[in-house]
Amino acid sequence: MRSTQVAIIGAGPSGLLLSQLLSRHGIDSVVLECQSEDHVQSRIRAGLLEWTTVELAQEAGVGARMMREGLVHDGLDLAFANGRHRIDLKGLTGKSVLVYGQNELQRDLIEARSDEPGAVLWQVSDVAVHDVHTPAPRVGYRHEGRCHELRCDFVAGCDGYHGVSRAGLPQGSLAQYERTYPFGWLGLLADVPPLNPELVYASHARGFALCSMRSSRRSRYYLQCSLEDRVEQWSDGRFWDELRARLPEQHAARLVTGPSLEKSVVPLRSLVTEPMRFGQLFLVGDAAHIVPPTGAKGLNLAAADVRVLSRGLIEFYRSGSATLLAEYSARALGRVWKATRFSWWFTALLHRFSADPFAERLQAAELEYLARSAAASRSLAENYVGLAFDET
Ligand code: FAD
Ligand code: PHB
Repeated sequence: MRSTQVAIIGAGPSGLLLSQLLSRHGIDSVVLECQSEDHVQSRIRAGLLEWTTVELAQEAGVGARMMREGLVHDGLDLAFANGRHRIDLKGLTGKSVLVYGQNELQRDLIEARSDEPGAVLWQVSDVAVHDVHTPAPRVGYRHEGRCHELRCDFVAGCDGYHGVSRAGLPQGSLAQYERTYPFGWLGLLADVPPLNPELVYASHARGFALCSMRSSRRSRYYLQCSLEDRVEQWSDGRFWDELRARLPEQHAARLVTGPSLEKSVVPLRSLVTEPMRFGQLFLVGDAAHIVPPTGAKGLNLAAADVRVLSRGLIEFYRSGSATLLAEYSARALGRVWKATRFSWWFTALLHRFSADPFAERLQAAELEYLARSAAASRSLAENYVGLAFDET
């Protein structure tokens, strides 16, 4: 039987970042991941990092390539009523954001973790957490055809929305607050130059559209779509035509199209689990909460949880004090709820829900107000770049 100080379930950004930060403080961990290394590294997901996430990656020793290749953005465009309005993030808050693909961050983290052979076990199955309400929890798993058990002091459930950490808890031990949205996002990745140097969030009667990017040569575009839509129903041609139709003319005129490298449909959902700790088990990132991607908060919230939990574990192993660990759930949830509110509000502002003329006029009025009011623009900007930790 193997032992470690912290057993981490899931090698997504939260699991690997936690493992890497702990390792820098001499704390041993083992990461158990059900997918292969290739699969995890090639998943196309988030693309926008708050500066506090960038700083945490630097603290973990994985910031060098990010700083070389990431694109610093000081603003974003809101597009509506066939016009555009720039939100000056830097001018309004003093902060910028960084465009850097989640898969690139995954790659940097996997490379850093590979310095410690055996620190990450890929393609494990049948992961099950036991005895979290005792000082000696155990995690059972199957690897390379054999059953194993990992003894540990703490378990970090970093296994995302579909993971076992939250699902395995006894019924009634947690409260879940959930909102589903009556639409999804269809994403397309292509090696074409972005139509605008900054991200464009477009509200249109045909539905929301987002123009994002991964580099000066690679674009990531999204369209609000029906929950029933399948990727096969969306040829590249149909996607590009629909995107063009939802953008103001001056943006549409600059759209460069090309063959897609990837297309996928995701449903939108808000979910918060309370509390985020059960005995020695801590829920982290998407395992504890999900936000719709409109506010670009999912990965950043996962990193914020890791920041709080790693500080608590480091303090515990350095001094024996469990004070910060005891505060983990409350501290993390303060930020989670604020980001949940922002993501819900930004989603409601920009998407078309149903053919409700009253709601559409309210959306139009709010967009115009945002464009004219420095106070409203600042509120958007300070949430988008990420609230300071002492504010959450
Ligand atoms: P995950 O990335 O889900 O990682 C969980 C890991 O656990 C996975 O590797 C999984 O394979 C593994 N696992 C699951 N079950 C088990 C098991 N039983 N045993 C072992 N391992 C298991 N966020 C942003 O901040 N900015 C954005 O711009 C943004 N854009 C997005 C766009 C899209 C289209 C989507 C879908 C998401 C976006 N997000 C964004 C959200 C972001 O991708 C997630 O919040 C982030 O991946 C959460 O990281 P995580 O490590 O907590 O969970
Ligand atoms: C992305 O680039 O994938 C992205 C950017 C901003 C968002 C959502 C997704 O709000």
